[in-house]
Amino acid sequence: MQAILCAPGAIIARLNPRQKKVNNLRQKTQHLRAAAAPAAAVEASELDFGNYIADKNKAIEQALSDSVPEMYPERLHESMRYSLLAGGKRIRPCLCIAACELMGGTMEVAMPTACALEMIHTMSLIHDDLPSMDNDDFRRGKPTNHKVYGEEMAILAGDALLSHAFEYIGRETPKSVPAERTLRVLVDVGKCVGSEGLVGGQVVDIMSEGADADEVTLETLKYIHAHKTGALLEVSVTSGAILAGAKEEDVERLGKYAQLIGLAFQVVDDILDCTQTSEQLGKTAGKDEAVGKATYPSLVGLEESKKIADDLITEAKELLRDYDPKLAAPLLGLADFIKNRQN
Ligand code: FPP
Ligand code: MG
Repeated sequence: MQAILCAPGAIIARLNPRQKKVNNLRQKTQHLRAAAAPAAAVEASELDFGNYIADKNKAIEQALSDSVPEMYPERLHESMRYSLLAGGKRIRPCLCIAACELMGGTMEVAMPTACALEMIHTMSLIHDDLPSMDNDDFRRGKPTNHKVYGEEMAILAGDALLSHAFEYIGRETPKSVPAERTLRVLVDVGKCVGSEGLVGGQVVDIMSEGADADEVTLETLKYIHAHKTGALLEVSVTSGAILAGAKEEDVERLGKYAQLIGLAFQVVDDILDCTQTSEQLGKTAGKDEAVGKATYPSLVGLEESKKIADDLITEAKELLRDYDPKLAAPLLGLADFIKNRQN
């Protein structure tokens, strides 16, 4: 995450919320095929991206369903399955599988980690939607987990998904994968989830909410985005590469690609929040402005935000230039998808 982060200490000092006066603080995507637009300089050539993603998503949906069986205590597992199988875009599993395949691995090798990443993403959204955080009623076009199962169950379903994710990588990764690769993935995923990753990003996000406009700088916003969203996207790509036995320089290059698409993902998220309807998004639109959240459009304007997202995606794709275009096509297509998505 180094390239796009600012010093965490400085941010915390600047934002330490309760000491400061202001720190008062679509349903399943339209078919992915529709969002995959023609690429820029480096092309996702000779790949029917829509078909590729549809195939992968079918396998991912099945694997996700198998990963959390319906069992005792039924209500808990129902709550876990409710959110896990609610039909997200499955970008993280796709990135993991695509990176693994680019580096010579297989979908089977990546699938347990791919599922675990989606479990972690799902639990983070369950917790993010809770009344104590964003207090949201809709997610992926359906009532949020706590609206259906109650707050206690939603917290515990999130906890169980998080724990299950690590167990799942350790237990289900094929034994053909050397144990040190699996161990490295477990460490990397752990790091990206904790205080130096998702949780850290969420904390700074909460602390920044409602702050005076000049208190939340672009640097701080980049920190939030790189941690809250970018970290999990980054480890999705690097873990796929590591499982395939990629060379260190490739893991590093793919990590940089992922940082760039991760930031672009969140810039696009900010743009969509103020340009799409709740129906299109499958969650409450316009919330950023309503709660006074600093976003790319609020800091640099809508047009500049679009340009930043475009530039990030172009730069990310440039990093894949030296790979066989056929093998790199899924990662190139996913970069375009992130830029062009409508929800
Ligand atoms: C959505 O952001 C939220 C996230 C991307 C991550 C939130 C992270 C947590 C709640 C920490 C979870 C705990 C662990 C252990 C991982 P948003 O509110 O900007 O977007 P939204 O409009 O989709 O809700
Ligand atoms: Mg939220």
